Amino acid sequence: MAYNKVENATNRIYERTLTYDKYTDPAVLEKEMDLIFSKSWQLVGHVSQLEKVGDFFTTEVAKEPIIVTRGNDEVIRAFYNVCPHRATKLEKSESGKKKILQCSYHGWTFKLDGKLNKAPNFKGEDEACVQDACLRSVRMEILESLIFVNLDDEAKPLNESYGDFFDRLGKFPFLNELKRTNQKTRVIKANWKAFIDNYLECDHCHVAHPSFVSALDMNDYQIITCENYSLQGSVVIPDKNYGTVDLNKAEMQGGSFFWLWPNLMVTIYPGPGNMATIQMLPIDHETTLAVYTYYFRDENLTQEEKDLVTFAEQVRQEDVELVELEQIGFRSRAFNKGNYSSSEKAIVQFHEMVLEALNE
Ligand code: FES
Ligand SMILES: [Fe+2]
Repeated sequence: MAYNKVENATNRIYERTLTYDKYTDPAVLEKEMDLIFSKSWQLVGHVSQLEKVGDFFTTEVAKEPIIVTRGNDEVIRAFYNVCPHRATKLEKSESGKKKILQCSYHGWTFKLDGKLNKAPNFKGEDEACVQDACLRSVRMEILESLIFVNLDDEAKPLNESYGDFFDRLGKFPFLNELKRTNQKTRVIKANWKAFIDNYLECDHCHVAHPSFVSALDMNDYQIITCENYSLQGSVVIPDKNYGTVDLNKAEMQGGSFFWLWPNLMVTIYPGPGNMATIQMLPIDHETTLAVYTYYFRDENLTQEEKDLVTFAEQVRQEDVELVELEQIGFRSRAFNKGNYSSSEKAIVQFHEMVLEALNE
């Protein structure tokens, strides 16, 4: 799938936007799990989580248990976190450092490169039957220190999947100095797409985000749709209230807010070198786990960096309240579809991609 309809985007008649049953029907989410989440690149972590040999973390992608390790050869690999003996989830902790991975059921052990180390209940003649057993690997790619996994063996490589996104990201000079410093999660009572819709337009910013619009030059706010991603941004207005950040001296003068198909947002705020990723992970058709991850130069945040996080979280809190109200209306019989202004073209792109992925 590819989306690259920059031209004429504002003049199109927006017919292919989602009807509200797409936000309330559990069968739609099942289809999305198969056709969207199991076929797209999903961010699972950052290389700063695996600095040393033996470091690992576990996660889930489209309900599949995944483990990512750094082996003795320093190579980072991703596997299904499932024992080949009889399917038991292998590693139970979220992260750690180990020389060997051991299944808690019958004690099979695996090296960090996924190969079987020992199968204690297979002795003598049995041993030969399992000598080639290993963890099943999963496609993984790392760009700009971000670790992505794709469950689809046929999917396009990561660097061909998002147009020039990684080139753009690589131009932020501080990016390779950043570490993953902290993560917060929050359960939102809305369909995962409602939050994406909310992120993809800023018509609501004047109404809902007073601090955001007073800091950024909204006359110059732009939304650009690109190949399988979109970008919004503006420069800051100097001397405006923005925590303790001195915008005249800030490393980043402008804000850049990216969305990547299907459920990843990457934000870079004005101020000191910073990045945040936001992922919307469906729990069920009307509940979503929002995962906010922050990247700064050091785990010990400066006051300026703490203020930036507070600012970003304030904006998000305002958004969460709105999408939860929207979800109530999605369930109502009052309307079955919305209206989209010409400045909401990034939502139209997203909706067209959803429909295409669902073969509708
Ligand atoms: S299921 Fe893992 S060792 Fe038996
Ligand atoms: Fe918002």
